[in-house]
Amino acid sequence: MNPKPRVVSGMRPTGRLHIGHLVGALGNWVSLQDTYDCFYFVADWHALTSDFADTTQITSYTYENAADWIGAGLDPEKSTFFVQSLVPEHAELYVLLSMVVPVPWLERVPTYKEQQENLRDKDLSSIGFLGYPLLQTADVAMYDARYVPVGEDQVAHLELAREVVRRFNNFYGDVLVEPEPMLTRGAMRRLPGLDGDKKMSKSLGNTIHLSDSPEDVTKKVRQMYTDPKRIRADIPGTVEGNPVFTYHDAFNPNTAEVDDLKARYRAGKVGDVEVKTKLANAMNAHLAPIRERRAQVLARPDRLKEILFEGSKRARTIAATTMARVRDAMKIAYR
Ligand code: TRP
Repeated sequence: MNPKPRVVSGMRPTGRLHIGHLVGALGNWVSLQDTYDCFYFVADWHALTSDFADTTQITSYTYENAADWIGAGLDPEKSTFFVQSLVPEHAELYVLLSMVVPVPWLERVPTYKEQQENLRDKDLSSIGFLGYPLLQTADVAMYDARYVPVGEDQVAHLELAREVVRRFNNFYGDVLVEPEPMLTRGAMRRLPGLDGDKKMSKSLGNTIHLSDSPEDVTKKVRQMYTDPKRIRADIPGTVEGNPVFTYHDAFNPNTAEVDDLKARYRAGKVGDVEVKTKLANAMNAHLAPIRERRAQVLARPDRLKEILFEGSKRARTIAATTMARVRDAMKIAYR
């Protein structure tokens, strides 16, 4: 028996990872890997729920994301990395769960209508999209996950997962474990975009990728949105809610330097160029080892594949056990 409680979380391979993922999900994932039995997976079927019309990038993003994870400090020796579609048992559990879950439960998950309204350019009318949180339920229930490290935006999905597990267990006995969300700690759950938008996201194009070169980082930082009132260096500026300072807080370990910059910014005694140059330097120092590890794994694609295939094999062993237990409980086991 493994004495460590199990943690499961996943990411959709819809693009390269950026510093928002690093500060939000990934940093948290890394911090859990010594204390928990962690399973981290690439949710490629989930990517299909919105990107089914163009699937050409999914596999390459899968590998890139796994490289991003290793770059960020996840260790495949400590945590199990796998690919959702390489564990087809997820689909079986999803089908069985779908038998007991009323459609309105899925229709009233807040992200369902929100996403349909926000992503107008995508066709989100499929059964697959409606079933998104149910597939997510299968993802975590498969491994008896106790904790699921996710961002605030996923709490409703975990709430659904708990209700689904309870309903399933009501019919068939104590078969599945109720998962609990584990939120990223600290004030820094969500990094604003480079443009000052509340959210950093690929679709808004306001991100810094873990794969960006030092020159790109410097250039992007130089163009960052900052206090728009400050058209000259001698005008006092606002630090609170200013993304340049939010990033300083997140990435600059030299708190004395940050405090000094903030004080002079408030007093109108520092130019944007100095504030941003120091930020770019701090970010590049933070990202350099990540970038390097990422490039190293990507230079060995066979090793990267092996990590995902081996991890998926390990995941599949557990999934097979869970499915045998589920079929038994449902009295649909043939032998
Ligand atoms: N919905 C998650 C997200 O967009 C990704 C995901 C899929 C997931 N399955 C999961 C997260 C299971 C945690 C557990 O971030």
